[in-house]
Amino acid sequence: MYLKSKFLNEEALSKIEQLISEMTFDEKVGQLHQISLSSVGAFEIDEETLKQMCENGQLTKQEYEENLSKSRLRKIGEDGVRLGKIGSYLGIADPKQIDHFQKIAVEQSRLHIPLLIGCDIVHGFNTVFPIPLAESCTFDDEMFEKSASVAANEARAAGINWFFAPMLDVARDARWGRIAESMGQDTYLAKNYAKAKVVGFQGDDLSNESKVAACAKHFVAYGACESGRDYNTVDLSYEKLHDVYMPPFESAVNAGVASIMTAFNDINGVPMTANKELLKDYLREKLKFDGVIVTDASSMKQLVDHGYCEDGKTAAEYSMHSTVDIDMVSNLYRDCLKELVDENKVSICEINDAVRRILKLKFALGLFENPYSNMDRLKEVSCADEHIEFEKQVALHSTVLLKNDGILPIKKEKYSKITLIGALGADIQQNYGCWAWYGKDELAVSLKSALEKDGVDYCRCYGVYDIDEAQMASALDDSELIIAVMGEHKDMNGEAHSYADITLSEPQKRAFEMLVQSKKPFVCVLYNGRPLCIPEMNEHANAIVEGWALGTKMGDALSDILFGRFNPCGKLTVNFPNKSGECPTYYNHMSTGRPAKNDNAPWTSKFDDSHVLPLYSFGHGLSYTEFEYSDLTVSTGESSADITVKVKNSGCCDGFEIVQLYVHDCFASRVRPVKELKGYKKVFIESGHQKVVSFKLDYDELAFHNSKLEKIVEKGKFEVFVGGSSINNIQSEFELK
Ligand code: GLC
Repeated sequence: MYLKSKFLNEEALSKIEQLISEMTFDEKVGQLHQISLSSVGAFEIDEETLKQMCENGQLTKQEYEENLSKSRLRKIGEDGVRLGKIGSYLGIADPKQIDHFQKIAVEQSRLHIPLLIGCDIVHGFNTVFPIPLAESCTFDDEMFEKSASVAANEARAAGINWFFAPMLDVARDARWGRIAESMGQDTYLAKNYAKAKVVGFQGDDLSNESKVAACAKHFVAYGACESGRDYNTVDLSYEKLHDVYMPPFESAVNAGVASIMTAFNDINGVPMTANKELLKDYLREKLKFDGVIVTDASSMKQLVDHGYCEDGKTAAEYSMHSTVDIDMVSNLYRDCLKELVDENKVSICEINDAVRRILKLKFALGLFENPYSNMDRLKEVSCADEHIEFEKQVALHSTVLLKNDGILPIKKEKYSKITLIGALGADIQQNYGCWAWYGKDELAVSLKSALEKDGVDYCRCYGVYDIDEAQMASALDDSELIIAVMGEHKDMNGEAHSYADITLSEPQKRAFEMLVQSKKPFVCVLYNGRPLCIPEMNEHANAIVEGWALGTKMGDALSDILFGRFNPCGKLTVNFPNKSGECPTYYNHMSTGRPAKNDNAPWTSKFDDSHVLPLYSFGHGLSYTEFEYSDLTVSTGESSADITVKVKNSGCCDGFEIVQLYVHDCFASRVRPVKELKGYKKVFIESGHQKVVSFKLDYDELAFHNSKLEKIVEKGKFEVFVGGSSINNIQSEFELK
């Protein structure tokens, strides 16, 4: 069985065939139809009551109309479920509402088929974890898995049984808002992240009360959208598609992911939701993916906007031929499949296959046994102490120290007055970042409230969109050390928030200018969901802490780092450009025929008005201690090479170091990146101590796709780099014979 579950057995398969044989055509199509009731799920006032409330003045005419449409939408949902015409919901997270609709499905519909309840739990449910781009900086597969497991545990208790996660789009362009939701720009890390998330969400039995069905998204190469503009076209060779963007999905399929979501974008002119070659021929037949394929929101209807399908009916036809099972809120399967079957454009077998895959998932989840929330469990697991404590650990490990002239960790006794400035640092909603709505605010800690415990004052002074210069001037006068929070409001990244200019907003630039003019020492803390162009900050700030959006306990984690209660160890999984015009910038780039060795090398591949190296490179992250690398050895075997390196903590305090292994295939039948991550290990080393770190490099990891899309490993010279970042490392080499 593709799906792992004690409820998916031969008996279940025969029950599924029995159900399919009993289902009317409408009931079959109902399973393929998904609606979103997120806005009205909690609404319970029926039309008649609303009318009375309006007549007796309890509601204004406008309130009556607004509520009337909600009430009617809810009734459509209830009637649709009762008639077996809706198979799944998007975006209801309230246990009461989930149970309300499940009850109608199970008790009032003819065949009693429960609903799939899907939600975008991308980085935590009630316990909100750091955004994926932040969590990826932990380089910690166990953390990736455990945070997924915590989210599944909490959300399943609420009755949610399907996550639209993990997001597996390798993202190289900082202008793209959804880079916040990604695990960064590296394929090797993304493959491990994919497996860890699927295992964390699904476990080894989907029917487990603390597990959910995962959904690998967005299939495929959404992160390669041209110019980083969301939803934009994707044009790339199939060699690059299979080298860079496909591997995380293959990893998810190999880990048994229950579902996959089609991406909004086209690839080379064929929109993914109707991409039969990549969905049916490749995903289903070559990768043997037998789970559910769901479209992205309205992406079926968007086949018309793409200019690929003349009308919705054709869109439904092409999607069905591509083996798309569930239509997310386009309503096209509902409205068009009957006609398509009557016209012999779609076969009933195709529809039965889709229904079968959906019913298998529902059986595997154990929904026929119990589809409901469990309020007792929810009270027990939601934001449980161990969840919250773990979240803070992930936040600590996600934080990246970008610059430090020694001012950090802050020695409190040195300063008579330390002031935190910047609106972002006082707003707990900014802790959550994009794609997080279910956090428990009463548990969330802002940096302001955390630093108050350290005796740090707060003065707002500025926000992303405004500045009070007088207030700023007096705060600067009064303080001996300033902690300035700068960056992005959480609504400046995530879906549909691409930016052509990824520098700080004007009010923040003015605030920064005043900081520099004050000549007071200052530390900047970044709140952001993408790399930002901050060369001036790098030049003038005494220290820069990359805080991203770290989730529920963001404030506590950052204050622990600022005051040295935790030694930062996060490493970037994206390049930070010097200027927006450098995007996309990624460490695993090709050499080109004219590689620029420095900023002044004439007639080479560089920008005259910028630098060859990014401001910060992939893998960059400082510590309060120092790590020294030595004695790199490589010994080649039959199918792999053993690599060892000595890492010494020569600094003042204990700390974690993320040891990174990069490889460069020096000469190949297709040019290869100047280096590629092929291993990472996080080690804790006490001050003054040394550890030997070893890697096993399977030669399969050296493979790339040739023009026939065969995965090949070629003999020849390979360089090996090991260190604390993609540019600070020691190197060796080996010959693959
Ligand atoms: C959105 C996103 C997708 C999400 C879906 C349901 O448009 O692209 O990631 O899962 O709709 O909310």
